This record gives sequence, structure tokens and C-alpha cells, in this order.
Amino acid sequence: MRQAHRQNTVGPWARRKLNALEQYLAAYHKVMQNQRFNLIYIDAFAGAGWSRVRTAPAEALGLDLPIDDDQAEAEEEFIAGSPVRALATGRGFDHYFFFDADPRRAALLEQLKRDHPQKDIRIKTGDANAGVQKLAAHFHKRPMARGVAFLDPYGPHLHWATVQALAETRKVDVIINFPLAMAINRLITRDGQIRENWVQMLDACFGTHDWHSLAYEAKDDLFGSNTVRKSEAAAERLLALYHGRLAHAFGHTVKPSLVTNTKGNPLYYLLWASANMRGVAIASHIMAMGNSVNLQELRHRKTTRRKG
Ligand SMILES: C[S@@+](CC[C@H](N)C(=O)[O-])C[C@H]1O[C@@H](n2cnc3c(N)ncnc32)[C@H](O)[C@@H]1O
Repeated sequence: MRQAHRQNTVGPWARRKLNALEQYLAAYHKVMQNQRFNLIYIDAFAGAGWSRVRTAPAEALGLDLPIDDDQAEAEEEFIAGSPVRALATGRGFDHYFFFDADPRRAALLEQLKRDHPQKDIRIKTGDANAGVQKLAAHFHKRPMARGVAFLDPYGPHLHWATVQALAETRKVDVIINFPLAMAINRLITRDGQIRENWVQMLDACFGTHDWHSLAYEAKDDLFGSNTVRKSEAAAERLLALYHGRLAHAFGHTVKPSLVTNTKGNPLYYLLWASANMRGVAIASHIMAMGNSVNLQELRHRKTTRRKG
């Protein structure tokens, strides 16, 4: 594995979610500063600590052009990932839990831990779902514990059961990268033929099989037989399904914020949820700094377009 991959390579749009996280954590610390809570930060898909941003023009254009070493070095840029930002923001948390399935990235997180000997940092290598669910169960025994969980998977790897476990604590705010266009929507094929393991992944991600009936519509073909086709509105419906489930589980959410690539194509949505309405104003403000999405408007737009 190349060094760059160990370190995680991201598109320039990753800044948007990381800045949103940092702003939320700074505001969270301000609100919590005069309270005697034990503050916990959970980073379920923590990465390597630092990420290399794709900035070389040839790469950015998707061209396979040779770049000499000096040029590549000059254009290489690293940005602080979520664990580094959480460690640096505000007065800091009392405990940090970082999870990553990739042992090479977890090894780089161990280095980060060595760089911060005064902080209580726990690193777990492996699937975050089991680890976060176990951690969430401890909150019931700790009345003074409060926290923030950043859930930033590449694909449909965040299980709904994990989100639900965090919601049940009533003490943890979540910021979720919901990779709808980047990953989830791509697993939902046009003709409805989906590999069984993808169906299982999607069921685990949504915590229900309802995504299937929302994503597909039965249509009569030219010969009068009934065929299943992916709905034009699949992405919007799936976002509404997930967001609705979040609102039900936590109690408070804000409008999703769409993150696009440099060409304006949708990639993922940033979602926020909490059992406490304390964070609603600040989360709405931070999310609105991107492209915040009005789900009702989206649904209305879809319906009008279909009628016309
Ligand atoms: C989008 S990256 C995280 C970036 C990171 N939050 C940052 O800001 O730098 C997703 C990470 O999730 C890890 N990963 C994938 N599946 C996982 C799983 N089931 N449990 C824990 N980590 C996982 C990958 O190794 C990768 O480092």
C-alpha cells in the first residue's frame, strides 16, 4: 500500500465536512465550558489523522499525465483529519475514542496518541459498529457523561444499530457523513438486480428494508408486462427516509447539508442529530453555511416536475 493511501487521500471537498465538525466542536465546548460534564469524543471512522488532498492538476483533471517529483511535492497538501481537529479544538474532551478498520491507519493514530501524552485517547482497530455500540452502553452508567460522535464512513458501513445505540444514550450528539450519491445510491442498480451482500449492507445501513420500496417503482413496459425500475426520486426519498429515522431516534435534527465535488455534483450529506435542543441553533447555522437542503421543497419539486 502506498504511503498516500495509508494516510488517506481525499478530495478538496473533504474540507467542508471537517470545517463543519471543527466549528461544531468549538461551539459545543463554549456551551459546555461552565458545566461539570465528563466530555467524550467518538470518531468511528477516524482515518489516519491527516489526509492528503488531491491538488495536482493532472490528478484533478483525471488525466494520466506524468508529473515529476518536484512538481508533485510542490502540489501535495495535507489537511488535518477529524481526530487531529477534535484534539485541537476548544478546551478538549476528557476522553477520545478513535476507531478505524485499517490497521495501518490505526498505527498512525497511535502516533497521534504519542504526540498527545496528556490526553486520554483510546484507539480500537476493527469494525467501529460493535465498538461504538459497546461504548454507548456505558453511557447509562455515567450520568455526567456527554459527548459528540463523528460518523464519517466512505460507504454504507455505518449500521443503523450503531446510530440507534448512540441515540438511546440521550447524551451524544452525532454528525454523520451520509454518503448517498458517493456510495449508497450506486449500490441501488437501475434494473433492481442487486447483489445479495449489497442488500444486506443497505438493510444494515438503513436499519430497515423500506429503502427498497422507496427506491424502486413497478412500471408497465411496451408489452404490458410489469417491470421494476429505479425511481427518479430514489436519492431524495432515501435521504428523507434516513433523516426521518434520525429525527425519530434523537428528537432533534437540522436540515441536511449537501456537499458537492468541484463540478457541483452531489457527493454526500452532512447530518446532525441530538436528543438535546441546545445544539439546534448552532448546528443549523453551521449546516446552512454549505448547501442546506429543504426536504419538503425537494419532494414538492419532484412532484411538480412529474406532473408537468
Ligand atoms: C472517510 S474516511 C475517514 C476520514 C476521517 N474521518 C478524517 O476526517 O480524516 C473513512 C475511514 O473509515 C475506515 N473504515 C471503513 N470501514 C470501517 C469500519 N467498518 N469500521 C471502522 N472504520 C472503518 C476506513 O479505513 C477509513 O479510514
